[in-house]
Amino acid sequence: MASLSSAQYRSYSSNSFRQSSSNGQRHNHRLLSFCSPIPRRSPPVVLCLQQSQGNSRPNVVLMQDGAVATPVNLAQKKEETVKKLEDGLLSSSGISTEELKEAAGFDVNENESSVSITVVGASGDLAKKKIFPALFALYYEGCLPKHFTVFGYARSKMTDAELRNMVSKTLTCRIDQRENCGEKIDQFLKRCFYHSGQYDSQEHFAALDKKLKEHEGGRESNRLFYLSIPPNIFIDAVKCASSSASAASGWTRVIVEKPFGRDSESSAALTKALKQYLTEDQIFRIDHYLGKELVENLSVLRFSNLIFEPLWSRQYIRNVQLIFSEDFGTEGRGGYFDNYGIIRDIMQNHLLQILALFAMETPVSLDAEDIRNEKVKVLRSMRTLRLEDVVIGQYKSHTRGGVTHPGYTDDKTVPKDSVTPTFAAAALFIDNPRWDGVPFLMKAGKALHSKGAEIRVQFRHVPGNLYNRNIGTDLDQATNELVIRVQPDEAIYLKINNKVPGLGMRLDRSNLNLLYSTRYSKEIPDAYERLLLDAIEGERRLFIRSDELDAAWSLFTPVLKELEEKRTIPEYYPYGSRGPVGAHYLAARYKVRWGDLGIEQ
Ligand code: BG6
Repeated sequence: MASLSSAQYRSYSSNSFRQSSSNGQRHNHRLLSFCSPIPRRSPPVVLCLQQSQGNSRPNVVLMQDGAVATPVNLAQKKEETVKKLEDGLLSSSGISTEELKEAAGFDVNENESSVSITVVGASGDLAKKKIFPALFALYYEGCLPKHFTVFGYARSKMTDAELRNMVSKTLTCRIDQRENCGEKIDQFLKRCFYHSGQYDSQEHFAALDKKLKEHEGGRESNRLFYLSIPPNIFIDAVKCASSSASAASGWTRVIVEKPFGRDSESSAALTKALKQYLTEDQIFRIDHYLGKELVENLSVLRFSNLIFEPLWSRQYIRNVQLIFSEDFGTEGRGGYFDNYGIIRDIMQNHLLQILALFAMETPVSLDAEDIRNEKVKVLRSMRTLRLEDVVIGQYKSHTRGGVTHPGYTDDKTVPKDSVTPTFAAAALFIDNPRWDGVPFLMKAGKALHSKGAEIRVQFRHVPGNLYNRNIGTDLDQATNELVIRVQPDEAIYLKINNKVPGLGMRLDRSNLNLLYSTRYSKEIPDAYERLLLDAIEGERRLFIRSDELDAAWSLFTPVLKELEEKRTIPEYYPYGSRGPVGAHYLAARYKVRWGDLGIEQ
């Protein structure tokens, strides 16, 4: 393993296929395939060819994702497309037919499948900042299939050239200093196209379908729709995409961004509505924290090192802390944020997902369903959050060094009397044999003094410690602490006690430190790269299943309702501070001290 590069390693670890043996038992077959320079594996499509009795649509092919496709005459399609290309009927936006053929990876002699990625809401912030750059990074790394096309879909009128211009401005991703980046950008942009349409128009999606078909050139088509649009138009877009622009001969998948509702009821309604048009297998609910390197590493750390797993329980762990902080406010996003607040924005999804991965039992395998089964068990074993176990805060304006930072309600899109929390701390419990009584403390806030996300595991004190005299009441020295720093400066370190060198016996506290930037020279891929690649490959492990979502909402819905019904006033904290003191009282109630207060090495 040590000789694999991180891309290879990542690829190795995610390529786990299930197959049935002759005796019906399932086995994991792990393949070693790499991103570069060839695609790692062709998407797992057509698994069964069925001609069912009484089927009103004979020769219908059932796809892995449950999508139903009618067979296409590939040769005929190809001929048609060549003709159209030559007749100049395809949208070429100033590029020659030859270039267009090349851009579409078109080769009449090849019978390979194509993947079309449509970013619905292409002119939005997320698309510009994350989705297009992640797609480009995947292209640069050689992780996208040979025949791929990216389509931007949005309401604004834009030409292909304008979309390319917009996208090119945001390709300042981790790749941009690499060799041949400019050339690769040009090649990537040639694969990007734009289609303007309403999100609720069957007609406009049908027109998109036509364009997609032209680019697919008669190959087997696989289509991924990334919905980067507000939740109130999700369903319309899904309805139109699925009825008018589904793949004719391959899979159709839809990535849905949070928020997945605002509470249990709205989330269930959303799931129900989505399932009218898609099967669960086609829905990829993204939580980008699951795509972060250190979150992926959590299971590796725990299940592939003998030293951690035996300690991973109430017997040795005193408390677990999940901490998220940002050193900027809701700037520009107040309108969205005010309807959700920090509990929905960060805790109910990002932090809770990390908690579930952290606390789950060993899954039967690395298969997506096995992992998600274990995660959902943790969520369902958790105690519903109570109001007395929550502290909420909101940042107010603060002047420091002559600079005045605005308060949350200074944002023009936020009502002046808003009580929406921009900070929250909560104590959660898992009522199962492994974790009974262990507080899982969460803290998340905007406009705090620093930016970061980390998991802190505080161990119990050493019973009958021979060095008690030296340690005294120093809580830090009495316990070991394992820190998994998700960002920035990804690291895993373990705080231990050691002797200060020299005569006498003075104890010190040091870190056994795995700092990623020192250990690995390769940059860490953005979470969206990993997740987009997984969605293309049909790997669901890092996406949220609907039962996980239900369980997550049921933990937080009662407290969210209570806070809103009572219009609980948040504790105000100055912009750039460490947040409300209430968080310390909450932790103290469970004999916990927040681990992020100390000065780290
Ligand atoms: C998003 C939240 O899900 O995550 C934002 O809606 C938050 O409010 C963001 O800023 C943080 O993501 P990251 O990857 O920058 O830590």
